[in-house]
Formats: sequence, C-alpha cells, structure tokens
Amino acid sequence: MKKIRVALKDRSYNIHIGAGIMRQCGHIAARLAVGTDAYVITNRRIQAKYGRTLCASLKAAGISSTVRLIPDTEKSKSFATAAAVLNDLARFDRNRHVFIVALGGGVVGDLAGFIAAVYKRGIPYIQVPTTLLAQIDSSIGGKTAIDLPAGKNLVGAFHQPRAVITDVSALASLGKRQLCQGMAEAIKYGLIRDKRLFLYIEKNIAGLLAKDRRALSFVIARCSSIKADIVSRDEREEKSLRTILNFGHTIGHAIESASGYNRYGHGEAVALGMLVASDISRQMKMITAHDQERIIRLIKAAGLPVRLKGVPFRKIISMHYRDKKFKAGRNRFVLLDGIGRARVVENISLFIIRSTLAKSSGPAIC
Ligand SMILES: NC(=O)c1ccc[n+]([C@@H]2O[C@H](COP(=O)([O-])OP(=O)(O)OC[C@H]3O[C@@H](n4cnc5c(N)ncnc54)[C@H](O)[C@@H]3O)[C@@H](O)[C@H]2O)c1
Ligand SMILES: [Zn+2]
Repeated sequence: MKKIRVALKDRSYNIHIGAGIMRQCGHIAARLAVGTDAYVITNRRIQAKYGRTLCASLKAAGISSTVRLIPDTEKSKSFATAAAVLNDLARFDRNRHVFIVALGGGVVGDLAGFIAAVYKRGIPYIQVPTTLLAQIDSSIGGKTAIDLPAGKNLVGAFHQPRAVITDVSALASLGKRQLCQGMAEAIKYGLIRDKRLFLYIEKNIAGLLAKDRRALSFVIARCSSIKADIVSRDEREEKSLRTILNFGHTIGHAIESASGYNRYGHGEAVALGMLVASDISRQMKMITAHDQERIIRLIKAAGLPVRLKGVPFRKIISMHYRDKKFKAGRNRFVLLDGIGRARVVENISLFIIRSTLAKSSGPAIC
C-alpha cells in the first residue's frame, strides 16, 4: 500500500493506493473519525461490483451505511439530481453523524463532493475512485461540480475530501475505452511535469493497456503524487501552477462541446487537444519535431485518436473562446517547454491555432 499526502494545513489528507484497499475503507474512515454513518453515493453498475465490499468494510469498523444510487450519466451532475440526493440525505441524517462516500468515476465523485460541500455548509467525504481518470485526477484536489445547460462544471465549490482510497484492482472491470481515456490524463502528467513518467508510459504502454497491475500501480501513484504536489502548492489555481493541469484541455473542451459531448469522450478530446498544444509548442520552437513525433506515437499507441474527424474546426475555434479560464478575452494555452515541462502562454495567434487545427483534421498530424 502506498500513501501520498496532500498537504493543505488543516485540510491535509492521504491518498491510499493499493490493490484490494477498498476493504480498508471502514478502518480508514473510523481512524479519521469522520462520522458513524456513511451515505454512499454511487451508480447501479458500480454498486453491483463493489458496493458490498465497501459496505462490509464500513460495517466491520462499526460504521452504518446507506447507498444512494444515481443514474450512470454525466446528466447526474445537475441541480435536479443534487436536490433529490440532498433531500434524501436530510431524511437519512436524523440522530446520526453522517459523512459521504463517493464510490465511482468522476461523475459520482464530482456530484458527491458537491453534495458534501453544500450540505450543512460542508460535511466530510471520502473519495473511492473506480475509473483510471478518477484515480489519477478527479478524486484529488477538492474541485467539486455540477453542470449547467450553459456549460460543464459551472457550479461548484472547493471542498477537499478527508481521504482518497484508490483500489487499483477496481480497474479490472473497467472497459477498454475508459482505460484509454484515463491514459490520456496519465500521458498529460508525464508531458507537463515528469519526463521519466512519460518514458515509463512509452515503454510500458502495452502492459498498461493489458491492465498489468504493477505498471498501473506505478503510473497511478506517480500521477497522484504530481497532482497532490500541484494542489498542495496552488489549491485554488491562483498562481497558475494548477493551470498547467489544463494542458490539452483548452482545445479538448472546445472539441467536446463543438461535438455535442457525444463523439469524443473527455480523454479522447484531451488527447487531440494535447496534439494541438504540442504542435503549437513546436511551431513556437519550444519542443523539437522529434519530441512532437514521440507524443503523437504514444497517443496513438494508447488507443487514442490522433486525427480530428467529424467536427468542423471553425466551430472548435469559436468554442475555444468560451473557455472559462480565459482572462479578459485573451486565450490561454498551456504549452510544452520540452517533454516534462509546461508553461502558460497567453494570446496565441488565431493563425497558428487555425493552421494547427486544419492539420489535425487532415492526415498531417498522424
Ligand atoms: N473534479 C475534478 O478535478 C475533475 C477532473 C477531471 C474530470 N472531472 C469530471 O469527471 C467526470 C468524468 O469522469 P470519468 O471519466 O470517471 O467518467 P464516469 O464517472 O462517467 O465513469 C465512466 C463510466 O465507467 C463506469 N465505471 C466506473 N468505474 C468502473 C469500474 N471500476 N468498472 C466498470 N465500470 C466502471 C461508470 O459507471 C461510467 O459508466 C466528468 O464529469 C468530468 O467533468 C472532474
Ligand atoms: Zn481532464
């Protein structure tokens, strides 16, 4: 078992990583004294696979539990679902000492974190992430959110979990496409912060996609410590350090919304966004053509798209201006300064973006 600390003074917590560690959830919750009654938020699919293990572990530690199922869709990150869950939670919370457990992927984690942030102005919660993306990204850092029709994640709060319990063996049941989407974020961590991680993924991509437990554990632990370090130093994204986690996301988000959130999954859109950002970095002589080729090759080997299809790039350009991270209408890109380093660059010319996108829609980028 590996323990990684997210150091945030009185809001510090540990990320516990290991195979079968879900069985220790009760013990960890009891030691933290977060409450005596767990309100577990999950969906039917995950409940069927892991609910019993989790609840048995809570029970063994003297913690009662109730399970609240939410529909297995991004649409659950809505006011309607949040209101229904909050009303149910308030009914459960009679003569009890309640805390929340988020058992699932990023959708469950974001909604459950949001509920924990707003119920009674904040109650404790524990993240038990079950997708690769949730394990290396969304469960860490305290960004909680629901969506609005006007855009994703527009309503939310910073509310740090009291612990993250990352059971690597939960990935055994994860579908290939979901695994690849998470791998896009893992590649991102290597590119922005850790050249050795990039090299490791490059070397072990076949094993990772075959769910080799040692390789996955290594990558999950490495990505988790990078995120923990960044969050510890820039919790609220005030120093632009946390912004580098957005590498590939400026264009990635634009691709997701320009395609109506159904053609590309988040990781796939981020993969395409990383290719665009890498191409811009190369045009600005921040990385070499050789580095760029390696990035393209790895993204392809990870089962991710390397060519944009079926989304007009003009639509992507107009969408990218709606990015909520832009300041005073100036675009902001995270670009690479070689493999393993990133920095934020503002006001990239439309000419460069357009020519890169035009290329990524054609054969040149792959
Ligand atoms: N808070 C943050 O910092 C942050 C960061 C990145 C992404 N996000 C959010 O995360 C969400 C996406 O998360 P996601 O990619 O985990 O998607 P998801 O939560 O929709 O999960 C993907 C699918 O995998 C299934 N699943 C989950 N675990 C499984 C398992 N172990 N075995 C089999 N199936 C399993 C889910 O039921 C779902 O159908 C988005 O809403 C995004 O906005 C948040
Ligand atoms: Zn992402």
